[in-house]
Amino acid sequence: MSINTTALVGAQWGDEGKGKIIDILAEHADYVVRATGGSNAGHTVVNGDKVYKLHLIPSGILYPDTVNIIGNGVVLDPKVVLEEMDALAALGVSFDKLLIDVRAHIVMPYHKELDELAEKAKGADAIGTTKRGIGPCYADKCDRIGIRLIDLLQPDVFAQKLKSNVEFKNKLITSVYGGKPLDYKTMYAEYCGYAERLKKFAVDTGVVLYDAIKSGKRVVFEGAQGTLLDLDSGTYPFVTSSHPITGGFCAGAGVGPTAIAECLGIAKSYTTRVGAGPFPTELDDEVGKHLLNVGHEFGTTTGRARRCGWLDAVILRLAVRINGLTALAINKLDTLTGIKKLKIATHYMMDGKPVNDFPADISMLEHCTPVYIELDGWNDDISGCKTFDELPAAAKAYIAKIEELAGCRVSMIGVGPDRDQNILK
Ligand code: GDP
Ligand code: IMO
Ligand code: MG
Repeated sequence: MSINTTALVGAQWGDEGKGKIIDILAEHADYVVRATGGSNAGHTVVNGDKVYKLHLIPSGILYPDTVNIIGNGVVLDPKVVLEEMDALAALGVSFDKLLIDVRAHIVMPYHKELDELAEKAKGADAIGTTKRGIGPCYADKCDRIGIRLIDLLQPDVFAQKLKSNVEFKNKLITSVYGGKPLDYKTMYAEYCGYAERLKKFAVDTGVVLYDAIKSGKRVVFEGAQGTLLDLDSGTYPFVTSSHPITGGFCAGAGVGPTAIAECLGIAKSYTTRVGAGPFPTELDDEVGKHLLNVGHEFGTTTGRARRCGWLDAVILRLAVRINGLTALAINKLDTLTGIKKLKIATHYMMDGKPVNDFPADISMLEHCTPVYIELDGWNDDISGCKTFDELPAAAKAYIAKIEELAGCRVSMIGVGPDRDQNILK
């Protein structure tokens, strides 16, 4: 049996252009699977003059023959997913091949309320979450009081679970945070309506995937967020509440590690981050402005301006190691065009000593100074390049340096947002 599967994972702090690469791989995929995160994700797919912004629906949805799966590890906001489906349906997208795992946990209004209130209460220490209720929903999952799709689909079970949750959450909302209580009846009626619409998609997707993988079908696992936002390996506590790394895809899709043959890490040719937390190579100068404006670095989900900085090889090495990457895709090489001298952080210095591996303690990062290697930039417009050979020598040298510093080959290079603007190397 040959395993024909690829896990596609964010190698930085998210927004690396995963949606674009998924869409490209989906053309030849039988299945695309989202395994982690929720509506905090914002994946952009550009096809000519059409721009699709996807949050919960897997980015393979634009190919009608591809089965798209929302796995058990995703936290599903029914309101968001149904609105997203309505908007896509209006553009002619079909959902005949969408499957949602019955074990997926449901994001409830109190999760969103608590996300908002907890962020406010943290004041200057706020994480800068997307306020989509992600943390509180995963917390309930771990606390074993969460409501899953399978529960939502059984009115009596749902009523009982919802009642005890609303009672408890209202105490938290009013007594701890001084907020307003939420109404059980309204919530019950609203979510029963969602259940009616979602029931036709609900299956045990782990079984479907197991059979698909065993029979040699081409499966792509679509990462959301990125390695540095991982609950264990990221810049804790400035992380999301799931495991957006390849290891997390196994738990979140219900497959074993041997089900993943290739691990493709997606990175930008520079670094960005939305939300609070350390960012060693962050730029607050003209180059930073260039990256923000030329790269249109504004969040797909929240519209926030992304923080921008030089490429960081310490981060790439972490991503290669944690995800077992077999290759890297480097997006947005075109955004660097016009910058005279390019820099890549090779390692950090702390107290006079070199630091080669990303520190576990973020307070250490405050004392780390990035050490850069400088490379020549290029001025030629590369957005129309179709092959690696067509790229200017300086751009080729930049990619070669990434391979050397990350210890991983680069197999794809993005030179524009369109699905056609991707070079195979
Ligand atoms: P994701 O969350 O990883 O899917 O990434 P986002 O969609 O949030 O952000 C990536 C942005 O970069 C989107 O606006 C993409 O259309 C855009 N993009 C992706 N690849 C390229 C590229 O190679 N060049 C340029 N200029 N834009 C790109
Ligand atoms: P995609 O899939 C970039 C960030 C938030 C915040 C932190 C925690 O588009 O790459 P959360 O709402 O998850 O509790 O927020 O994680 N974050 C992302 N940043 N891209 C994303 O997704 C993100 N999803 C969450 O900005 O710093
Ligand atoms: Mg995004």
